[in-house]
Amino acid sequence: MSRNRRSFLKAGATLGASLLATPAFSVNPSQSNTTANGTTKGGKTNVKHRTLGSGKHSLEVSAIGLGCMGMSYHRSFIPDRKNMIALIRKAVDMGITLFDTAEVYGPYVNEELVGEALAPFRKKILICSKFGFNIQNGQMAGLNSKPDHIRNVVEQSLKRLKTDHIDLLYQHRVDPNVPMEDVAGTVRDLIQEGKVRRFGLSEASVADIRKAHTVQPLTAIQSEYSLMWRKPEEDVFKVCEELGIGFVPYSPLCRGYLSGLINERTKFIAANDNRATLPRYTPDAIKANWVLIDVLTEFGNHRGYTAAQVALAYLLAQKPWIVPIPGTTKLAHLQENLWSADIEFTPDELKTMTEALSKITVVGDRYTGQPAQQVRN
Ligand SMILES: NC(=O)c1ccc[n+]([C@@H]2O[C@H](COP(=O)([O-])OP(=O)(O)OC[C@H]3O[C@@H](n4cnc5c(N)ncnc54)[C@H](OP(=O)(O)O)[C@@H]3O)[C@@H](O)[C@H]2O)c1
Repeated sequence: MSRNRRSFLKAGATLGASLLATPAFSVNPSQSNTTANGTTKGGKTNVKHRTLGSGKHSLEVSAIGLGCMGMSYHRSFIPDRKNMIALIRKAVDMGITLFDTAEVYGPYVNEELVGEALAPFRKKILICSKFGFNIQNGQMAGLNSKPDHIRNVVEQSLKRLKTDHIDLLYQHRVDPNVPMEDVAGTVRDLIQEGKVRRFGLSEASVADIRKAHTVQPLTAIQSEYSLMWRKPEEDVFKVCEELGIGFVPYSPLCRGYLSGLINERTKFIAANDNRATLPRYTPDAIKANWVLIDVLTEFGNHRGYTAAQVALAYLLAQKPWIVPIPGTTKLAHLQENLWSADIEFTPDELKTMTEALSKITVVGDRYTGQPAQQVRN
């Protein structure tokens, strides 16, 4: 056993013991899964809401959204389409109002799925989509945020989504060849034309955010943020706070890892799963990072929460303007994830948990190759 591995295991054991020993970790029955979040009471759902963005650029949304990508793209097995339409509609029924997709997921088929599923409920919910990739012969071929291209993508997305407007349109990745002012100006025009309601950026730097916000105020930044990738706390959160922009963590469960249901024997289907190429999903990294799962399960086991719920609740506890969009293809996970919005940490719990997590060094980069070059923070 390597020295590093030994020290991880030792750190895990120590952290586990300290979490158990902390008296502040008492069970509060009102915070357990028996609360009614997600069920209907007198015909109304009981889901918590949050606000992304400020003033006339804001959007009120359910505290947890639904990432729809994995229903057709990048998460190995593609489930039956009819079942996924039923799942999205069930999410509406449970009170989720924020649904996330993108042109590039599939490509195209995920927008078609989301459009068909949500068409009957269009006025009750918000659809988020994204532009920014060049797609050729069904494959990603670099970035493209030229104004004409943005306009063309939006026209096609509107058709696939069966709607006349996109509630929140993100630039998926910043295009170094197109000035941000031109991108923001194009989205501003689309907003004036009624085709788009709000503007967001994904994986943008602080400088990109400031430039865009000057031309068209931003409602949300959508970037990777989970207990395995906390960099946005260092810089992007500060600019979001200063400018009144919301933050939407993508892959908030680190693509399923933080649920504790992925282990070193898990097989990812390379033809439809980017985890097959990402350094954090190698058997060695999966084993080395298990100390994180230990912290989550230690905390959850004494309150009746799953590791996934604790991971999501911890993100929600960081700022009131954070709205994670976990992806799932299963009703049980959808319900579980939605319940995480009911979990409230006491200040002591949050402090102890933060201290425990800060002692862990995550093994493996989050991206490699071209995807790593395309992210700017
Ligand atoms: N802006 C961007 O560049 C970008 C990049 C990636 C993703 N996204 C968006 O973010 C959304 C979510 O990201 P993601 O799918 O990459 O990662 P994620 O939400 O962190 O994880 C999704 C994975 O976790 C599993 N899962 C979800 N809830 C679970 C639970 N309660 N217990 C056990 N397993 C659970 C799902 O499997 P099951 O189906 O079995 O539940 C799925 O494989 C996407 O759908 C997409 O809309 C955006």
